[in-house]
Amino acid sequence: MQIGDVQIKNPYVLAPMASVTDVAYRTLCRRYGAGLVFSDMISANGFAQNNRRTLEKFIVSPEEHPVALQIFGSRLDNLIKCGIYASQFCDIVDLNAGCPVRKVVTTGAGAALLENPDWLYRILKEMSQVIEIPVTVKIRIPPENIDFIEFIEQISSSGVDAITIHGRVREQMYSGRADWEKIAVAVEHSCVPVIGNGDVVDYTTAKQMMDVTGCEAVMIGRAAIGNPLIFRHLVSEGRVLNPKGIPAREKIHALLGYTDLARKFGIPEKIQVLHAIKFTRDLPRSARLRARLTGIKKIEEAINIILRYYDLPILQNTEIS
Ligand SMILES: Cc1cc2nc3c(=O)[nH]c(=O)nc-3n(C[C@H](O)[C@H](O)[C@H](O)COP(=O)(O)O)c2cc1C
Repeated sequence: MQIGDVQIKNPYVLAPMASVTDVAYRTLCRRYGAGLVFSDMISANGFAQNNRRTLEKFIVSPEEHPVALQIFGSRLDNLIKCGIYASQFCDIVDLNAGCPVRKVVTTGAGAALLENPDWLYRILKEMSQVIEIPVTVKIRIPPENIDFIEFIEQISSSGVDAITIHGRVREQMYSGRADWEKIAVAVEHSCVPVIGNGDVVDYTTAKQMMDVTGCEAVMIGRAAIGNPLIFRHLVSEGRVLNPKGIPAREKIHALLGYTDLARKFGIPEKIQVLHAIKFTRDLPRSARLRARLTGIKKIEEAINIILRYYDLPILQNTEIS
């Protein structure tokens, strides 16, 4: 797949996810084979106000390219400034037009942009004109009162280089099944490549989504939380590591890869512990393990609790770095 002049070496894309897709996690997913990784959303207003935590979100590792930084906002001037700034660090600037969270949509950002296609078109047109690297947009299915085919035709002709579509409407949040038929309609009517998103959990479902919709790539969200190994499974075309059945040893090895990167990028220990908890998902008897990890603040302690729980050798200080 190609997005503008950016070559993507396989069709498996890590979704933007708040509190998950930090620089260390993205880098790890690239190591396991993801073709493209997205940052979680960065506030264009926060950027305009020089917010320290917002500015930290632009950190990208040399290893993770190609990487898309996702921005959100409703003010055109801030989106333009933020997008231009982001373009110094990444390969693609993505606009979030799908976030359903109340505090985002009430400001006119995220999924609120779907209600006004002319305004969204204008934002994307201006972003594409002034940002020198490819611009993409991530949408959900727009509200029923908007003609879906016209919407796709309009948005895809704004100058963007690709569209990601999550096959749910805003009100669904993450419930119900993603509507792959709608994604197929988007593929048919878009004049730029489409990345399909929603309910891909392994190689079989990734292939099904591409077959059913004709999309050029699939984006994986929840199934990649605490499981960067899913990308090894996907690029091996399902031959290795069924995502639900990965042994504890492999998961912990991946977790150590995360904590090593996280330390290099200065990610706070409490965030690393939250990641560690996510890595235990799908491991045997993990609910009890998670209860033990609650309240732990030091990553080394969290890792040793996990190792002990699965009868694996305890690490010495140095082994974690
Ligand atoms: C914890 C979490 C955080 C998310 N944060 C973002 C975000 O920052 N930007 C965005 O565009 N989508 C975000 N999403 C939506 C995902 O990118 C994706 O569209 C959604 O999870 C559907 O894909 P899936 O069925 O593979 O999970 C988030 C989803 C989850 C579960």
